[in-house]
Amino acid sequence: MTYMSALKLINLKISHISEEFVAWHNKEHSKLYSASGRVFSKANLISEFENGIKNKNLFQYLVRHKKDKENIGVIKIGPIDKVHMKSDLVAFIGNENYLKKGFGSEAIRLGNDIAFNKLNLRKIHGPIVKSNIGAVKVYLKANWIIEGIQKGHYLIKNKQEDAILVACFNPRYFKNKICKNSVFKIEDIYQL
Ligand SMILES: CC(C)(COP(=O)(O)OP(=O)(O)OC[C@H]1O[C@@H](n2cnc3c(N)ncnc32)[C@H](O)[C@@H]1OP(=O)(O)O)[C@@H](O)C(=O)NCCC(=O)NCCS
Repeated sequence: MTYMSALKLINLKISHISEEFVAWHNKEHSKLYSASGRVFSKANLISEFENGIKNKNLFQYLVRHKKDKENIGVIKIGPIDKVHMKSDLVAFIGNENYLKKGFGSEAIRLGNDIAFNKLNLRKIHGPIVKSNIGAVKVYLKANWIIEGIQKGHYLIKNKQEDAILVACFNPRYFKNKICKNSVFKIEDIYQL
């Protein structure tokens, strides 16, 4: 990758899983990050980290602002499906001072590069709760597409919610233009 980024991704270590790191996961703006309603604790984040290392199926990166020397979020690539060479990639900016400044999409672009060029994945993907419109926008801005919608996929606080399926395709494996264009336009989904 050749473009200069204000951010860098650092391999997550157990010592990075601080109280602040845990708190990022439980912030108000992060509540749609996990549709399962999972409660994040230091113990379960450490256990997730250790299992990922042991099974080589979850790679996590701290997002660091280079100039400010601040850790601002996380990129998680996994669980990796080794048979089909694909994975989820999730992102969040936990440090609120860095929200809505373009860093979410920039961090995902750095994650795309690792997933495709280091981990040699064919495809990265993930479901997003429809009401998490900021997340959908952020992935589209990082060169992902909307490849599908699962209707009423979630039941959140007694309300049915669609899953917006976003994905990004490794150009080494996909030459087809179809993989560069969203099947559904964001404007149609949200009727902006
Ligand atoms: C989603 C998230 C990563 C966005 O990070 P961010 O750094 O604030 O996003 P960016 O600044 O890169 O914004 C990219 C675009 O999305 C838009 N956007 C970001 N957050 C938004 C929100 N809450 N509502 C509406 N639009 C939003 C921005 O305005 C921008 O659009 P523009 O280029 O047209 O101005 C961040 O809010 C977050 O970490 N949320 C919790 C975790 C999560 O839900 N992750 C995604 C699912 S795995």
